[in-house]
Amino acid sequence: MAAERPTTLRGLAIEALTSADLDAKRRLTTEAGERWFARQLGLSAPGDPALPSRPGRPEKPDLVSPRHVPRRSVHSLEGRIAMIHALAHIELNAIDLALDIVARFCGQPVPRSFFDGWMTVAMEEAKHFGLLSGRLRDLGSHYGAMPAHDGLWQAVEATAHDLTARLAIVPLILEARGLDVTPSLLQKLEEARDPETGAILEIIYNDEKKHVAIGAKWFRFLCARQRIDPARRFQELVRECFRGDVKPPFNDRARAEAGLTPTFYRSLSPLSS
Ligand SMILES: [Fe+2]
Ligand SMILES: [Fe+2]
Repeated sequence: MAAERPTTLRGLAIEALTSADLDAKRRLTTEAGERWFARQLGLSAPGDPALPSRPGRPEKPDLVSPRHVPRRSVHSLEGRIAMIHALAHIELNAIDLALDIVARFCGQPVPRSFFDGWMTVAMEEAKHFGLLSGRLRDLGSHYGAMPAHDGLWQAVEATAHDLTARLAIVPLILEARGLDVTPSLLQKLEEARDPETGAILEIIYNDEKKHVAIGAKWFRFLCARQRIDPARRFQELVRECFRGDVKPPFNDRARAEAGLTPTFYRSLSPLSS
C-alpha cells in the first residue's frame, strides 16, 4: 500500500524538499502552493513527516568546492552551458531554501500571508529551475552534466536557529546578490547573441526583485515587532552568520525597488569608507 500523502502545508513542503527526483520536486512544490492558495491546507499537524537535514537530490551533479566549478567565457557555447548550469543549480537550491523557510518556521507567530509570500517564492523558483534545465536540454546538455558547488545550503545550516537571521542571509544577501550580477550577464548574453537564454534571465530578474521585497518586508516586520532598528540588526546578523563577501558593485536601483536601501548593506562592504 502506498504511504499516505501529507495533508498540511508543512507536510507537503517537506515532501517536496525531500524529493530527489527533480521533476517530482517541481511538481510537488507547485501542488503545495496551489493547494495552499486554494485554502485547502492547514499549516501543520503532528503527523507531518520530519524535516530533512539536507534536501533530496539526484546522484548528479557532484557537489564540489566553488573553486572546482568550471568557469568559462559565455562567448562560447560551452561557456554558456556552464553558466546556465550554475544558475540552474542556484535555482534548485532556491526551491529548497523557500520550502525550508515554510517548513522550519511554521510554528512562528506570523500571519498567514507570511506563508503566501514564501510559497509564491517556492513556486517561482520551481519555474526558474524548469526554464533553465529546459534551456540546457535545448543546448544539448542537461542539469547534472557538470559539478556544482554546495555553498548555498550552508546558509541554511548557519541560520536554522533564527528566522530573522534566515531572512537576513537568504533573501537579503544571497538573492539580492543575484540582482547585482544579472544586468551584466544579460549584457553578455546579448553580445553572445543568445536571446533565448536572455529572455529566461529577464523573467528570473523580475521575479527575484519580488523575492528580495518579500524578504525585506518580513525582515522589517520581525524587527518592528521586537522594536529594533532593522538596518543595524541586519548588519549584526550578517557579521554573525555569513562568511562570504558583501561587495560592490551593488544594483542600488533594483535593491531599492525591493525595499533594501543602502543603509542596510553599504557599511558591510570592505570597500566602503
Ligand atoms: Fe529564482
Ligand atoms: Fe528567488
